[in-house]
Amino acid sequence: MPLSQRIETAMDQALALSQGSAAPRKLSGALIYATKPGGARIRPTILLSVAAACGDDRPALADAAAAALELIHCASLVHDDLPCFDDADLRRGKPSVHRAYSEPLAVLTGDSLIILAFEVLARAAGQEPERAGRLILSLAQRSGMPGGICAGQGWESEPVIDLGAYHRSKTAALFMAATEMGAIAAGHAPEEWRDLGALIGEAFQVADDLRDALLDEESLGKPVGQDDLHGRPSAVAELGVKGAVERLKQILSGAIASIPSCPGEAALAQMVSHQAERIMPAVPARYRA
Ligand code: IPE
Ligand code: IPE
Ligand code: MG
Ligand code: MG
Repeated sequence: MPLSQRIETAMDQALALSQGSAAPRKLSGALIYATKPGGARIRPTILLSVAAACGDDRPALADAAAAALELIHCASLVHDDLPCFDDADLRRGKPSVHRAYSEPLAVLTGDSLIILAFEVLARAAGQEPERAGRLILSLAQRSGMPGGICAGQGWESEPVIDLGAYHRSKTAALFMAATEMGAIAAGHAPEEWRDLGALIGEAFQVADDLRDALLDEESLGKPVGQDDLHGRPSAVAELGVKGAVERLKQILSGAIASIPSCPGEAALAQMVSHQAERIMPAVPARYRA
């Protein structure tokens, strides 16, 4: 089964847990709205690719891990768009959750998705409680404080931002979760997969900064020029477009070189290159070397 299909099936199974005839109808609808259709699903794709490279001997556990990770990502976007954060009206080409449903429901949607992520992992524990415990720990560490997404968003409220820590926690953390959780689900040690996640995350952040600077709202499906607007540090502000493109290429070759030796090494390297092509925006001729 293609990875994309595995991911959508796992997401549907997870979301089904959140629905019920006795549940409030609008909040139930908002959970689906926030997660379906998805965006690029890049984190669960990486997770399942690493699991495959490690032998994927417990595919149901890997699927649960992939869904849990994507649920946390979707929750982070719902909260990130709220007026008290980025105040964004558009996400994935449609009105953001608070615009479509209201602010209280957007707060609750994010909360519910975070809790659902951990419920999915707890339910998948079954025959593999030890792996499930490690999955829960990795996801918690990469989502919360002191080094997960919460920390990343928290940096935006500091008078002086530590750029490295900001990007590592805001963006790279969930990519580290992707590689770690893929390895854990397949019974491998997560430590040796951490660098790959960190480097993919760093590359992704540079690509996101480039897209924010170069694309328009329609092709991106979310507001552009946000880094400038909010006065946020970005790779483009720091290095210019050309410099950021160069940095992106360097990080990606480092990412590929960091793949631990394993039976699926070549396929994984190909997946990383393919994802890199997907995230790299077209760079206008005037910025090319
Ligand atoms: C956007 O992530 C948020 C960042 C961390 C920059 P994605 O670009 O992966 O969002 P979707 O899931 O594809 O919409
Ligand atoms: C949002 O980050 C993703 C989180 C880590 C919460 P950004 O604010 O930089 O990304 P976009 O541009 O809204 O997707
Ligand atoms: Mg933000
Ligand atoms: Mg934002």
